[in-house]
Amino acid sequence: MKKIIVAIDGYSSSGKSTMARELARRIGYVYVDSGAMYRAVTLYAIRHGMAGGGKIDRDALVAALPGISVTFEPAGADGVQHTLLNGEDVEREIREMQVSSHVSPVAEIAEVRERLVRLQQEAGEAKGIVMDGRDIGTTVFPDAEMKVFVEASPEVRARRRLRELEQKGAEANYEEVLENIRTRDHIDTTRAVSPLRKAADAHVLDNGRLTPAEQMEWLQNLYNTISNE
Ligand code: CDP
Repeated sequence: MKKIIVAIDGYSSSGKSTMARELARRIGYVYVDSGAMYRAVTLYAIRHGMAGGGKIDRDALVAALPGISVTFEPAGADGVQHTLLNGEDVEREIREMQVSSHVSPVAEIAEVRERLVRLQQEAGEAKGIVMDGRDIGTTVFPDAEMKVFVEASPEVRARRRLRELEQKGAEANYEEVLENIRTRDHIDTTRAVSPLRKAADAHVLDNGRLTPAEQMEWLQNLYNTISNE
């Protein structure tokens, strides 16, 4: 079996992170949640008064970029990999609605993308990695051996995200979550720099129809086939 790069892209809340994390665990690969990196930069911007009320101070954020580091701590007792912003564990905070509301405009900034894409490519140099996001199979790893594009309707995704937020004890309502998903879909697919789109050689997974167990079986089978080629 050869070591490969697995790129999983898809719309917001399509369940790709859960799927990607579980696949990495099963096959002993490193897992990188690229969305968490954009979220961490967004949290930095919010904390430093560069983002708020839906507005981003682009110039200030670009100037601050060299002083922003985003790293990961391997999964601990809770089985979850934690995101560190300048060494501080921000895993919980980056999932809150305030960050979700500002992350897509931050992810539109070319300099932010350039810096994070470089870090993502470095993480994949040794292969043996599963990374999920919006542009992994198109921009970050265009030569990835295995590419998956996950689809599900906005309503299916909103229900899933609401459940996730409720489980974490965060406040949210269905309409607000659905609206956020639609807005992010729009920004993510229409932005100038590496918009969300399916790579020509990606395998499509419509996960609105599959149970989590069925999804994993589909993914594992695809991995087994590709890594044995
Ligand atoms: O909320 P969800 O888990 O679906 O999104 P995420 O993967 O945490 O990503 C949050 C946001 O970061 C997305 O809506 C995109 O705007 C941006 N993003 C991106 O532009 N490129 C990536 N490779 C990953 C995320």
